[in-house]
Amino acid sequence: MDMDAIIEALGGAAQVQTLLGVGPSAVSNYRARGQFPEYARIRIWQALKARGITVDPETLSVEPSGQANPIASSNSTVSPSISPATGLATVSIPQSPRILLIISGGIAAYKSLELIRRIKDKGWHIRCIMTASAEQFITPLSVSALSGETTYTELFSLTDEAEMGHIRLAREADAIVIAPATANIMAKMAYGFADDLATTVLLATDAPTLIAPAMNPFMWAHPATQANQRQLKIRGVSFVGPDSGDMACGEDGAGRLAEIPQIINAISRILPGNGRLNGKTALVTSGPTHEPIDRVRYIANRSSGKQGHAIAAALARQGAKVTLISGPVDIPPPAGVHVVAVETAQDMLTASLAAMPVDIAICAAAVGDFSVVNSGVNSGANSGANSAAHKIKKSDTGDAPQLFLQQNPDILATIADHKMRPRLVIGFAAETDDVVNYAIAKRLRKKADWILANDVGQDEQPVFGSDFNMVHLVTENGVEPWSEMSKHDLADQLVSRIAKEISA
Ligand SMILES: Cc1cc2nc3c(=O)[nH]c(=O)nc-3n(C[C@H](O)[C@H](O)[C@H](O)COP(=O)(O)O)c2cc1C
Repeated sequence: MDMDAIIEALGGAAQVQTLLGVGPSAVSNYRARGQFPEYARIRIWQALKARGITVDPETLSVEPSGQANPIASSNSTVSPSISPATGLATVSIPQSPRILLIISGGIAAYKSLELIRRIKDKGWHIRCIMTASAEQFITPLSVSALSGETTYTELFSLTDEAEMGHIRLAREADAIVIAPATANIMAKMAYGFADDLATTVLLATDAPTLIAPAMNPFMWAHPATQANQRQLKIRGVSFVGPDSGDMACGEDGAGRLAEIPQIINAISRILPGNGRLNGKTALVTSGPTHEPIDRVRYIANRSSGKQGHAIAAALARQGAKVTLISGPVDIPPPAGVHVVAVETAQDMLTASLAAMPVDIAICAAAVGDFSVVNSGVNSGANSGANSAAHKIKKSDTGDAPQLFLQQNPDILATIADHKMRPRLVIGFAAETDDVVNYAIAKRLRKKADWILANDVGQDEQPVFGSDFNMVHLVTENGVEPWSEMSKHDLADQLVSRIAKEISA
């Protein structure tokens, strides 16, 4: 795709920024990648159409309407004659956001009727899907009457598939909202089920997704539901609520659908271009590093990457363009972030510097402090400079090989002292003793802006691998103890602080 020609046809980079609600660096990234993000295609298609240019939204191959096909249909470029100078009207943007509301089968389904009205009050376009269970609580007729659109219920409906198939429903949404979300639909999403229209659309989308759970407090507190929630958050899905209080089932506790204005605010936040870090760029390092000893062995640590990945997901939810530089981990990458997989500390440093310049750098990886200079010296298996090229063998004499270590580069200090230093540089300090004092000293020594200090030495509260974390935030203004919370909540709290700092 000829990005320059398309951007020119849209009136230039500034128009594209306004159209997509992104900053200049995002448009540069699209040019560099040679493609627009999936969610943007329909908007671009509409804007080009408004300028009299016919476009295939799937490939965004461009062809001026009314002309005798001067442009090839694939790998095509916009004709040089197409420019703002053609006198075509300026792009009528922004388009109103398109919300796809999925209503699942909980007692709070009736509240979705009010939600539809409030969504329409915002001037947003809304389409609805109902699960079969939702139809036990409210009718598609009421939903259609309020939304002013067909309500979709069937995966295997010839009419629906002909007019509006599940893939189009997924594509033509700027945001997907599931309200109320049952325990069942969350479980299906977590495991990738696609056995009805709602879950098939959810599997076929990359649009930002918001879940508003509503269920009995025992169902919400159940470890299965909690694990599903965590899994979905890891993938970048946003949540609003549930609230606590009296439930329709007569019980009291967490499980009530969030209030409608809360849901509307949460939708605003996930709409592309509406995040608090919209137009900002960030790099996040996450996970452990593996420092090879020989071809099969390595020195590693217990970091799972959960905290770094959660931070990357939270930054992306707030609209930042995130490069996640991850050591070897067993968790999936969050949605909407660019992942660079690395193994060693040296690779992580190289990838971090390649991701710069950025506005924000968060070094959450547990970077190995040492790498092997040469190994197997006594075994005679290796005379090389770094890790052994072959597997080091046991010796007949029973002598163990000696490993010689060298200190690895300091990624946090390198970024903080770099000529392209990000506006905000944040590090983690995982220590076993005197955690806060160490973090205060580390912040100054490494020229970081903030350090999040956590105690990894407590047997009863392991941090590595856990879903929870407890930190002290160390800044130039002092030390703030943060209460224990899930790594996702901590990521949201940190990102909220970052947004405040960046906008100050
Ligand atoms: C009267 C009644 C009320 C229910 N309310 C809820 C609820 O509030 N939240 C929930 O997760 N499940 C609730 N359920 C159970 C769901 O309807 C059930 O899990 C169903 O399979 C959900 O299907 P869906 O996720 O495809 O909509 C309720 C069931 C009944 C019979």
